[in-house]
Amino acid sequence: MKVPERFKVGITRYTPADADDLLQFQLRTFEAGSRQVDAARARWLFDENPCRTDDDTRDLWVCRRDGAIVGQQAEIPFDLHVGTHQRRAAWAIDLMVDDAWRLRGVGPALVATQLEGRSIVAGLNLSDKGAATYTRGGWADLGIVGVYLRPLDLARAVRLGSVPARIGRVAPVAGPALRAVDSAAAVTLRAAGARLETVERLDERVDQVWEAAAGDYPVIARRDAATVAWRIDGRPDAATLRRHYLVVRGRPVGYAVLRTTGTATEPTVVVVDYLAPARWVAPLLVAAGLDARRHGAVAMSVKTRNVPADRHLRAAGFVRRDRAADDPIRFMVRCADDPAVCALVDDPDSWFVTSADSDLEYAMAPTGSAAVASQG
Ligand SMILES: CC(C)(COP(=O)(O)OP(=O)(O)OC[C@H]1O[C@@H](n2cnc3c(N)ncnc32)[C@H](O)[C@@H]1OP(=O)(O)O)[C@@H](O)C(=O)NCCC(=O)NCCS
Repeated sequence: MKVPERFKVGITRYTPADADDLLQFQLRTFEAGSRQVDAARARWLFDENPCRTDDDTRDLWVCRRDGAIVGQQAEIPFDLHVGTHQRRAAWAIDLMVDDAWRLRGVGPALVATQLEGRSIVAGLNLSDKGAATYTRGGWADLGIVGVYLRPLDLARAVRLGSVPARIGRVAPVAGPALRAVDSAAAVTLRAAGARLETVERLDERVDQVWEAAAGDYPVIARRDAATVAWRIDGRPDAATLRRHYLVVRGRPVGYAVLRTTGTATEPTVVVVDYLAPARWVAPLLVAAGLDARRHGAVAMSVKTRNVPADRHLRAAGFVRRDRAADDPIRFMVRCADDPAVCALVDDPDSWFVTSADSDLEYAMAPTGSAAVASQG
């Protein structure tokens, strides 16, 4: 759908001169304490992204009407591998239009402006209104990115309600079965000469993991050492993460990054990011889960789209659902590239996605108001 040029009036690329007005707009339109007004997140996401467009602006557009900012659209540029092709693509994030200016074409004009610069743009975690705007703009709907849940300590997880009801009902039977799966996984790992290595920071060995794994996934955001150093170790909440490699006969074949969540009495872990060849995904995540269990976690969850690993994950005791505690993660994409590239990009089953894509798993900095004060 073509957006009339007059709708785009007042849309410009963000410059530091917009900082104060933008902050006022964001404080007015996003919920109090939301991540969009977190200065540490903005510095990391925009100013430190190795794929950022340039150093003087942010990958963000503002729309001014009558002098005031009334809308914004941001993006996270990244390198997307599509089969044998590589493209500089972007995650669309933080689309927002002031209440008073809705239904007047500002949203579609911001989206259209972003699309002028990119042949592939994807969105994760879209709201109903956002999805409606993107659908009208001709984006492909790639469905819901599911969440895989797995109890680590079934009896405690059931008591605490950290597993779905249908697992809870079969807990007396599933408990021994799960322990059997855990033991079998441990035996398989040992037999394959595989072990989990916990590290302080991810390093250049990520490149070996990327080399080993990328070929299994037709459409995947590049996860080499430089990208992962920014994505994981550069995050403002990096100190809360636990990192592992899966090493097989001395060679790293996978990495997993986990964050403890839940409460002190009901700790669970979420997988923030991982990468491994499809057949090593379940062993990697089970081993990381056993480590988390030793640290008291009762259940783990992994937001991911990974069709090649799906049956391995189910066999290893994971249950896939469309949502956990939060809203379903709606996934859409807009591809205007070679037909061969778009055929893969528009296919929901081609994608490898984790919480480290877009800004899905960003934990808010605890000092929201202090962070706001230093925005810019
Ligand atoms: C999503 C959002 C940016 C859309 O911006 P917008 O400028 O209002 O977009 P539009 O001008 O296309 O208006 C959208 C609605 O107005 C309707 N509309 C558009 N032009 C219209 C017209 N001339 N007459 C009547 N209705 C009209 C559209 O049908 C649409 O309704 P629907 O969503 O119920 O289908 C805005 O709703 C918003 O900021 N929402 C809150 C934040 C959010 O959800 N962001 C998206 C994150 S993914």
